[in-house]
Amino acid sequence: MKRALVTGGAGFIGSHLANSLILKGYEVIVLDNESTGFKENVPVNAQYIKGDVLNLQDLSGAFAGPVDLVLHIAGQASTIRSFRDPHDDLKTNVIGTLNVLKKCLEKRVPRFLFASSMTCYGHPAQIPIPEDEQSRPISYYGITKHAAERYVLSTALRNDLDFDFHATAFRMFNVYGERQSLQNPYQGVMAIFISNVFNNEPITIHSDGEQSRDFIYIEDVVDAWISAIDNPRTYGEVFNLGTGKGVSINQLVDKILLSDGKGRSNYPVRYSHERPGDQRHMRADVSKAKELFDWSPRISLEEGMGRTIRWARDQWQKHKT
Ligand code: UD1
Repeated sequence: MKRALVTGGAGFIGSHLANSLILKGYEVIVLDNESTGFKENVPVNAQYIKGDVLNLQDLSGAFAGPVDLVLHIAGQASTIRSFRDPHDDLKTNVIGTLNVLKKCLEKRVPRFLFASSMTCYGHPAQIPIPEDEQSRPISYYGITKHAAERYVLSTALRNDLDFDFHATAFRMFNVYGERQSLQNPYQGVMAIFISNVFNNEPITIHSDGEQSRDFIYIEDVVDAWISAIDNPRTYGEVFNLGTGKGVSINQLVDKILLSDGKGRSNYPVRYSHERPGDQRHMRADVSKAKELFDWSPRISLEEGMGRTIRWARDQWQKHKT
């Protein structure tokens, strides 16, 4: 049985990946410091280590047995926090990644998949954004994600390794779905707005709401990662994971309100200042993933949002009772 280590496997994206690996027959080890993740998200069949990628002892525990595959998702994922505490962002995203890479080299792990981000692109010159667009991040978070991505891919290019180390990076656009935190104000805008509506709190739109995002449902993201694992055409490559469709934040608000039978005439929606490092229009060109490993997103925004809202309502009701 192949053994896979998922860092950040108690979080939103990592726990879905860990689940899927178990279903595919992998033995899964999850390492997570629970800074934003929850132990309850970790699949029951996984070996769980509560620990930090910045702690070498914790990492040694995670790499104690043979490891065939590492999915490195653990990271500081908030743009706002990266400005508030740049050192922490740098440590977690860059040093943390270097630590995991170091262990992979020591243990001769042959396969590495990395959670990168569309924040690498900053203000792109072209929309939809192809992977060969220049990376010029405008947030500190984008800088550390880009740096970590380069560390991963450059490690795979090293000619002084005496074993094959194959890496792939996914520049994920705005991932949403079940288990995205409804409590964390620093995590994805869709979960924030859904939770606002359930709690009957005003919605705050930063800037004029005309900025747009490419929202991709978690199941499509998991599908991409899992199908890339054994596909040599993905080795050494960077892939956008998005839908190719853009939705403005204003449109998103209207859709979420409508799903609850509300509208702006009977629900408070406020406008506030633009946040630092905020990107304007983000939409992925996903033709490379289609061409190299035949991946395309399948779940429409309506379907994915419907599922997310149903899940969120369940959570909210459980929480209330
Ligand atoms: C998000 C992720 C980032 C990830 C990237 C790519 C978060 C916090 N950021 O960046 O980790 O790498 O996608 O997948 O999850 N907004 C409002 N009101 C709010 C909250 C947000 O108007 O209450 C606006 C923001 O200003 C922004 C847009 O909504 O323009 C999207 O914000 P957000 O979901 O926080 O993330 P991104 O910056 O797109």
